[in-house]
Amino acid sequence: MFTALVVEKDDAGATHAAVQSLDDDRLPAGDVTVAVEYSTLNYKDGLCLTSGGGLVRTYPHVPGIDFAGTVETSDDPRYAPGDKVILTGWRVGEVHWGGYATRARVKADWLVPLPQGLTTRQAMAIGTAGFTAMLAVTALEDHGLAPGADEVLVTGAAGGVGSVAVAILAHLGYSVAAVTGRPETEAYLQSLGAARIVPRADLAETVKRPLEAETWAGCIDAVGGAMLARVLGQMRYGGSVASVGLAGGAALPATVIPFLLRGVNLLGIDSVMRPYADRVRAWSRLSRDLPLDQLERMIRPATLSDLPALGPAILKGQVQGRVVVDVRG
Ligand SMILES: NC(=O)c1ccc[n+]([C@@H]2O[C@H](COP(=O)([O-])OP(=O)(O)OC[C@H]3O[C@@H](n4cnc5c(N)ncnc54)[C@H](OP(=O)(O)O)[C@@H]3O)[C@@H](O)[C@H]2O)c1
Repeated sequence: MFTALVVEKDDAGATHAAVQSLDDDRLPAGDVTVAVEYSTLNYKDGLCLTSGGGLVRTYPHVPGIDFAGTVETSDDPRYAPGDKVILTGWRVGEVHWGGYATRARVKADWLVPLPQGLTTRQAMAIGTAGFTAMLAVTALEDHGLAPGADEVLVTGAAGGVGSVAVAILAHLGYSVAAVTGRPETEAYLQSLGAARIVPRADLAETVKRPLEAETWAGCIDAVGGAMLARVLGQMRYGGSVASVGLAGGAALPATVIPFLLRGVNLLGIDSVMRPYADRVRAWSRLSRDLPLDQLERMIRPATLSDLPALGPAILKGQVQGRVVVDVRG
C-alpha cells in the first residue's frame, strides 16, 4: 500500500482532492519504483490540483510534477535500490501519476541522479521552478550576458521561478532588479540578493511607443503578457529575455521593433522535455551556484493534506518562494 493525494472528477465535472491509501497494483507502468520523500508545488501543480487546466487527461489522478526520493526497485541497469533520484517534467503529474504520493513508478529515462551536495528536500525546494530558473540563467549567459553588465530584471520575482532566479543571479554577481506586485515581499527579495525592487504597476501598463530607454541587460520573465511586451522595449542593445512563464497571460501584445532596431533576443525556455545531458548540467550548476542558506529562506513546508488549499493559492499568485511537501508527513 502507499499513500497519495488523489484528484477525482464528479459527474458535474468538478474535481475533489483527498489523501487516500492505494494498493501498489494501482501504480502506473514504468521501470523504476521510487519511495518518494519530498515533492513541491509549481504553478502547473496548481492547475492539476484544481481544474486540470487541460493538462490532466484521466481521473482519478495523482498530481505532483516533481519528486525526489530513493529507488526501491529498478528494471533498468542505470538505477539500483538505494539510489537517490530526482524527477521533474516529462508530463509526470499531468498525464502520468506524479509525486504527491509515498511511491511513484516512472521510466528510468525520466530520472536524474541527485547531485552531490543536495538533499532530497533541497532538491524539491528547487524543483521544476528552480531548475527552470537555472536553464534561463544559462540561456542568457549563452547569449552573452556576463556579470558587470547593467541590471538584470526578474519578473514574478516573489514566486518560485522568480525567487530562485534572483538568488542565482545575485550569487553570480549580477545586479538584480526584481518585479513584484506584493510590496510586502520587498525585504524577502532583498534577502535573496535583489538590489532594486520594481513595483509591478510600473510595467503592467502597455505603452504605444515600441521602444523606451535602454535599461535591462537581460531578463528572466515568468509573467508574459503585457509585461513581457513592455520589457522587450526596455532591453539594452543586443540584450536577451528568457521567456519562462505566463502568470500574467499568454498573449504577447508586442511589436517586432525591439528585435529589428536593438537586436533584442527572445529566448524560449522549456523544462519539461529537456534532454538528459542538459538536465544533469543544470542540476550540477544548481548545487554550485545557488546558496543553500538563500534556498532555506524560500521554503514553506507542507504535507499532502495542505495541497488542496495551496493549489488555488498558487494560481492566484499568493504563494511566496517554494513550497516543500513532505509526502510522509
Ligand atoms: N517554461 C517552463 O518549463 C516552466 C517551468 C516552470 C514554470 N513555468 C511557468 O512560470 C510561471 C511561474 O511559475 P511559478 O511556479 O514560479 O509560479 P508562482 O510561484 O505562482 O510565481 C508566479 C509569480 O508571478 C507573479 N504574478 C502572478 N500573477 C501575476 C499577474 N497577473 N501579473 C503579473 N505578475 C503576476 C507573482 O509574483 P509577484 O507576487 O512577485 O508579483 C507570482 O508569485 C508560470 O506561468 C509557470 O507555468 C514554466
